[in-house]
Amino acid sequence: MTTIRPIREEDRDAWLPLWRGYNDFYRNEPTDEVTQTTFRRLCDGSDGLFGLVSEDGEGRLVGLAHLVFHSSTWATGPYCYLEDLFVSREGRGSGAGMALIKGVYEEADRRSAAHVYWHTQQYNAPARSLYDTVAHATSFVVYER
Ligand SMILES: CC(C)(COP(=O)(O)OP(=O)(O)OC[C@H]1O[C@@H](n2cnc3c(N)ncnc32)[C@H](O)[C@@H]1OP(=O)(O)O)[C@@H](O)C(=O)NCCC(=O)NCCS
Repeated sequence: MTTIRPIREEDRDAWLPLWRGYNDFYRNEPTDEVTQTTFRRLCDGSDGLFGLVSEDGEGRLVGLAHLVFHSSTWATGPYCYLEDLFVSREGRGSGAGMALIKGVYEEADRRSAAHVYWHTQQYNAPARSLYDTVAHATSFVVYER
């Protein structure tokens, strides 16, 4: 059984391995300062950040979803950007990823967000297979400097 709930201060120790696993997946190496700041913002909701975690039937954290709510020039309500989504290897295949996405939609609806969007890599087949059941891919291409 999967439970989705907002992240809390006392989740820090259980959240860290998930955060590290997610960063390893993208070969990203956040500094300790970034990790500390991100966790604090997710917990206190500052700068539009909001964190969800997924608990398995025994209360262990197996997944995370990190959201950024921000203003838009195209709507009066906020937009919701799903920045990070991760389920531990042990937690995969049991519906945690899908439950997290549903939790994202519920939070976006609660805040009357006009739009929920996210990026993924073209070749991330497991993630895309999940996303294709809950959203549609657009023709936009991401540029960065
Ligand atoms: C993508 C990810 C979050 C999916 O989490 P999960 O808990 O395994 O997903 P679920 O069990 O809820 O699966 C939901 C659907 O996703 C698809 N899916 C999940 N894993 C899959 C896989 N390995 N291959 C193909 N489809 C898969 C299926 O359509 C599945 O539905 P089904 O069980 O009815 O077949 C997880 O694999 C993950 O954390 N991957 C590494 C990080 C990552 O890619 N994050 C997303 C970055 S954008």
